[in-house]
Amino acid sequence: MNVSQAVLKRRTIRGFKADPVPNDTIVEVIDIARHAPSNSNTQPWHIAVVSGAPRDKLEKAIFKEINSGKKPYPTFPSGGVGLTGVYKQRQYDCAFSYYATMGIAREDVPARQALLLKNWEFFGAPHVAFLSMPETMHRANAIDIGIFLQTVMLLFVERGVSCCPQGALGSYPGPVREIADIPRDNAILCGLSFGYAQEDALINEVKMQREPLDVVASFTT
Ligand SMILES: Cc1cc2nc3c(=O)[nH]c(=O)nc-3n(C[C@H](O)[C@H](O)[C@H](O)COP(=O)(O)O)c2cc1C
Repeated sequence: MNVSQAVLKRRTIRGFKADPVPNDTIVEVIDIARHAPSNSNTQPWHIAVVSGAPRDKLEKAIFKEINSGKKPYPTFPSGGVGLTGVYKQRQYDCAFSYYATMGIAREDVPARQALLLKNWEFFGAPHVAFLSMPETMHRANAIDIGIFLQTVMLLFVERGVSCCPQGALGSYPGPVREIADIPRDNAILCGLSFGYAQEDALINEVKMQREPLDVVASFTT
């Protein structure tokens, strides 16, 4: 598989088999991804992988907070807030094509809420990772984390492993910090659930479209 093929094959997967990914594969991917570029070579990324019993314990601990009525308390503002215009429209289109695939009507708020909660079940993935950077860093440094994240995802694609990047996984950092090994001065930007795709899962049928080239690029010659 070449890079172009990996970019075109990658898509967000939200239904996983229980089979774990071999530890050697996870380590190899992260070992290669650390060669990603960063501003002034600061390499501000940290990825904390949680698997097995700690993964299950973390899911339970997060749900304890959710079920106690605790509202999300991300350190960095969620990427979904404050959107306007075309960006708000794309966010709606994304959500409603997801609901439509799942057979959920727009007005069915309980079903939408149940689907949202699957984020903190890590969509059934056997592994979850948390990407963090120093809390004092400027938001421009988040570019580096994004590059690192995509590098990890493409390397996983190459190895037949599927991922779901999740901003939602920055919402309840308390239990994550207790169970995952996150550097003390870092704050969580997002999470990444990963494992082998359950190919026939309905939730994996959703396919997001992209804007045409002339909307996203200009070429001045
Ligand atoms: C930074 C980031 C945060 C995301 N957060 C979530 C999330 O919290 N929950 C979720 O189900 N999908 C999340 N996604 C997945 C996006 O919805 C998905 O990438 C987008 O709709 C395009 O679909 P594709 O990845 O299948 O091409 C996130 C993606 C990125 C890059």
